[in-house]
Amino acid sequence: ILRSVQSAAHKSNYTRNYASSAANPERKVTILGAAGGIGQSLSMLMKLNPLVSTLSLYDLAGTPGVAADVSHINTRAEVVGYAEDSQLGKALEGSDVVIIPAGVPRKPGMTRDDLFNINAGIVSNLCKSVAKYCPNAIVNMISNPVNSTVPIASEIFKKAGTYDPKKLFGVTTLDVVRARTFYATKAGLPVAEVNVPVVGGHAGITILPLFSQAYPQANLSEDIIEALTKRTQDGGTEVVLAKAGKGSATLSMAYAGALFADACLKGLNGVPDVVECSYVASTITELPFFASKVRLGKDGVEEIFGLGPLSEFEQKGLDNLKAELKSSIEKGIEFANKN
Ligand code: NAD
Ligand code: LMR
Repeated sequence: ILRSVQSAAHKSNYTRNYASSAANPERKVTILGAAGGIGQSLSMLMKLNPLVSTLSLYDLAGTPGVAADVSHINTRAEVVGYAEDSQLGKALEGSDVVIIPAGVPRKPGMTRDDLFNINAGIVSNLCKSVAKYCPNAIVNMISNPVNSTVPIASEIFKKAGTYDPKKLFGVTTLDVVRARTFYATKAGLPVAEVNVPVVGGHAGITILPLFSQAYPQANLSEDIIEALTKRTQDGGTEVVLAKAGKGSATLSMAYAGALFADACLKGLNGVPDVVECSYVASTITELPFFASKVRLGKDGVEEIFGLGPLSEFEQKGLDNLKAELKSSIEKGIEFANKN
């Protein structure tokens, strides 16, 4: 007994929680844009994830420092940092999951679509390399405008002959994280127990939280639901304004990105009933891409859930978002086919 107490005392709680992983398969996760605002925190959070065996960090500059720093954390993942174009292939080879937060963030007064001209090119080049070096990887697209960058990626993969719609995800988890936080606060509920589906896309009115399907149900007035909806839709702008020119959400996004990547890894590993909202190729509306609840499995998307019953207010929101989302999707597809 004494010996087992001593050996238990040997390991800190931290080590017990995060370092052990004997039963988990080898998984390589690559972050493109790893030295950026999101990239650095996301690199740290993925290093803490026991499902990751190799963490590959790529950026145009600064990655060796981030990789050296993160690599000292005493958890399972082996960390490798790559900088410069010439190393991108090595960074990507053998990846199970590729997370893409590469690109410029908004400044006050800008919409996400204002980032299109710069980020569309960055994302399409990176996706060409994903198609070449890890065509079977799951891709988690964070770079904005997500409503267009996901269609861009799909066209790039189609042209390369590697497109698998089940493996391409626009990361909308931050919208869910925000909706949960704002709803729980207003309803006086413990936030950890709250869930709220968020559907549509990831920009302004295309972000549609379904508070009528929130769990647990709180008795909130229509005015409060409208205000919560608006705050969720403007959550990104709230942070952009508060950062006053120094970028957009990075810390909450890294948290959301880590949550979503963890769900993808769990799905790959065969954990049952992993369900998250994500922006994917979809037939639940007439639009070719749409965010809704999806079940994640060994091949990526296993099932896409329909929208369920909507309140009148949500139905109006759905009707109103379609034109903008459609045009963002078409803009992405057109760009990819011209480049
Ligand atoms: P940032 O400027 O801090 O970091 C971006 C990083 O990308 C930089 O380190 C830069 O060197 C790198 N980069 C640029 N071009 C690259 C390339 N070709 N290859 C590899 N790396 C490259 O920006 P950030 O705050 O981390 O935001 C990144 C993106 O994520 C932005 O487009 C932002 O709008 C988006 N974002 C999305 C969500 C979401 O919910 N999906 C949330 C927050 C931010
Ligand atoms: C967010 O929702 O925080 C991101 O899309 C970044 C932004 O520009 O708002």
